[in-house]
Amino acid sequence: MDLDFNDFHGLYLFLASLGLIWFLALWTIWLLGTWTARSRYRLRPRSPLSSATRTAVPGVSILRPLKGLDTNLYENLESTFTQEYPNFELLCCVADEDDQALPVVRELKSRYPHVDAKILIGDEDVGINPKVNNLMSGYRAAKNDILWVIDSNVTVHSGTLARAVDALRTPTKSGKRVALVHHVPFAFSTESRVGSRIDEAFLNTNHAKMYLAINTVAIESCVVGKSNLYRRSDLERVNGSLKPITSTEPNAKQDGICGLPAFGRFLAEDNMIASALWHELGLRHDLSCDVARNVVGNMSLRDYVQRRVRWIRVRKNMVLAATLVEPFTESIVLVSIGSSSLKYLFGFSRWLCVLLHFCMLLFVDLDVYTSLAGHPLPQSIRWEFLAGWVAREVLALPIFILAIVGNRVEWRGRQYEVLNNGEVKFVSNHRSFLHSLEFLGWSRSQKYQAVETEAVLP
Ligand SMILES: *[C@@H]1O[C@H](CO)[C@@H](O)[C@H](O)[C@H]1NC(C)=O
Ligand SMILES: *[C@@H]1O[C@H](CO)[C@@H](O)[C@H](O)[C@H]1NC(C)=O
Ligand SMILES: *[C@@H]1O[C@H](CO)[C@@H](O)[C@H](O)[C@H]1NC(C)=O
Repeated sequence: MDLDFNDFHGLYLFLASLGLIWFLALWTIWLLGTWTARSRYRLRPRSPLSSATRTAVPGVSILRPLKGLDTNLYENLESTFTQEYPNFELLCCVADEDDQALPVVRELKSRYPHVDAKILIGDEDVGINPKVNNLMSGYRAAKNDILWVIDSNVTVHSGTLARAVDALRTPTKSGKRVALVHHVPFAFSTESRVGSRIDEAFLNTNHAKMYLAINTVAIESCVVGKSNLYRRSDLERVNGSLKPITSTEPNAKQDGICGLPAFGRFLAEDNMIASALWHELGLRHDLSCDVARNVVGNMSLRDYVQRRVRWIRVRKNMVLAATLVEPFTESIVLVSIGSSSLKYLFGFSRWLCVLLHFCMLLFVDLDVYTSLAGHPLPQSIRWEFLAGWVAREVLALPIFILAIVGNRVEWRGRQYEVLNNGEVKFVSNHRSFLHSLEFLGWSRSQKYQAVETEAVLP
């Protein structure tokens, strides 16, 4: 055995350089996200549309899919009744007559009689996604071309709509038309539960920073939904295939079912709608300077893990390559790569590197929080937030591994199987022991034994 030490040296040198480049690239992205948060969200000027006359602005139909009593429902809904915009209607969609959300909507209607608000009852079965089925009535009844779909658990500032319409009407720097305006989620938790705090720390720091950086570079559609503004006339032209429209006619549409019904087959419908507008029509997205304030419900640690696993499993089936890169962007893995590279190349102390990395990361993350919240982290939640932040960083890799070994997700108490293109298949209504094991990725071989397929999508 005669190993050529010089060959290994070359290999290590190569790997260390690659590691260092990756480490620096990630930090560049993080700083870009932090800078974007600062420049976009610290000043929120009032839009002139807020005080324009009714006929001077395009009408907007606000669609609110409702189901049950979400945490904070009254305040969330009220924030759409009080939008400073002269021309909008509000369509509250519920699936059935005795939904608990209805009394809340009725109360708000009588409190704000001048707002053109309607309640639409009944869903239309266009696919597996209950939110899309629920939204169909509003989608069909909407009087205006511009739709603003906003989740029941989201609160917005009263100037949000006017600023979003402004953004929708302003082309991007490269001259492309904006097809969709979205808002970065900003979570707040009214509970001190572990899962709620971790989710809050995740959404307001790491998630926001990456979301803003990716949307600033804007080489790919990256939208979570929660609060999206787009035109029905654009949506009516796409079918969710993500293939560019081939016809060159001005208003050509895709084959097959188009519009909202085409997205009932996806679990992450808002994400797919955004991608479809981007890829099929070649249009772009924009963020306004508002956030979608999202109340994090009462979440245990298990709920948190389950939610992260769910989205990684959905994402894995939509954008596999990007999902596989994810662990290498997590702080702990990244600093291991970065510190080893720096040590090998320059003899830089590993522990000093780790220390600097985490101090800077915390500083950057708290800066992102301050930009989005409009104020620094409140003293009252400081320690819980920091504990949540640390737990988020530590849990990132184990959660990723758990997510990558399975395909089944649980959503509002039901089991779904995620298919290859992000479509989902309903599996079962109840949680069995087998499902719990599968959730942990321990019984893959038995995956199909317990499947009671009720609906299979195209
Ligand atoms: C908010 O509501 C949407 C549906 O309207 C749901 O999919 C989502 O999980 C909810 N988010 C939270 C944090 O409860
Ligand atoms: C969408 O339209 C494209 C081309 O117009 C077509 O090839 C594709 O099959 C359609 N997809 C669906 C799901 O209808
Ligand atoms: C949150 O959930 C836990 C356990 O389910 C319960 O004990 C607690 O009272 C809940 N908190 C609120 C404010 O609903």
